[in-house]
Amino acid sequence: SLEYVTPYLFRHRGRNFLTKDIMRPKDLDALLHVEIRPTDIFLITYPKSGTVWMQQILVQIMEAALPGWGGDATNRVKVPWLEERTADNPFRERPDPRIFGSHLPPDMLPVQVKDKRIKVVYVWRNPKDVLVSLYHFAQSWVLLETPESFEGFYQQFLDGDVYMGSWFDHVREYCAAQEELDVHFVQFEEMLKDLRGEVVKLCAFLGKDLTDEAIDRVVEMSTFKNMKTDPKANYKDLVEVHRYKTETMRKGKAGDWKNLFTVAQNEHFDKVFKDRMSHLPLSFIWEI
Ligand code: A3P
Repeated sequence: SLEYVTPYLFRHRGRNFLTKDIMRPKDLDALLHVEIRPTDIFLITYPKSGTVWMQQILVQIMEAALPGWGGDATNRVKVPWLEERTADNPFRERPDPRIFGSHLPPDMLPVQVKDKRIKVVYVWRNPKDVLVSLYHFAQSWVLLETPESFEGFYQQFLDGDVYMGSWFDHVREYCAAQEELDVHFVQFEEMLKDLRGEVVKLCAFLGKDLTDEAIDRVVEMSTFKNMKTDPKANYKDLVEVHRYKTETMRKGKAGDWKNLFTVAQNEHFDKVFKDRMSHLPLSFIWEI
């Protein structure tokens, strides 16, 4: 039987998963033993940290490096979700190199990700904006519970009673896993400040030697403006089939938390953040 956190979330190995999804503890555990190929690439994030954005960047890099790699599908098919319902998830048949998306913590990834030194791209974003983005997304995605108030959701986020569990734990665990994973960290706000610079660093990590023109094209295809109208990248098909009530390409900015946090909430958040995160070797950008 499932251990419920809320009617929408069940707890497994210290994380929260969607009760309305079809993944159950045994399916999640089975992922530990999924066969991973040496050329596979993993894109890992805490929810709302820039997953769909990085998905587009990786797809564009791959298609520039290996023309024809992705075929004509949407990014959702090209970069399948590891922990999504496996029955209709064709990830085993994807051509090499395969790219997977995942929100799982390091100890729930397939063990071969560590054993085979698979390349992992981890995107993180300042948690105040993650909280606000998730608050809006919880009102949009049918698998998540619509928050009753921002105040209540704010507390739920700090308590880790949200999808996938605590943001603080997720980021801390990936920092700690740097020894055992071949991981490249990318900050959402750095991509906002200098997308090209981040793409160049990413290409170096992935061992993809692209021309300047090819890099320009990756950048152009991955701007917020372009992605908003790119049906292969923007997940609008999920709005059409009523899985999302609003677009996931919402604002794409840094500092939107200022529109929702009260002064008291902000001071409280800073205190929690300092207690839990200040020792980390990561710098955070709260607004641009
Ligand atoms: P907002 O809700 O703050 O607008 P994820 O893909 O992990 O769910 O993250 C979603 C967030 O990334 C949303 O943030 C979305 O707007 C933002 N995003 C997606 N593509 C982006 C892009 N090209 N540039 C900037 N932000 C982007």
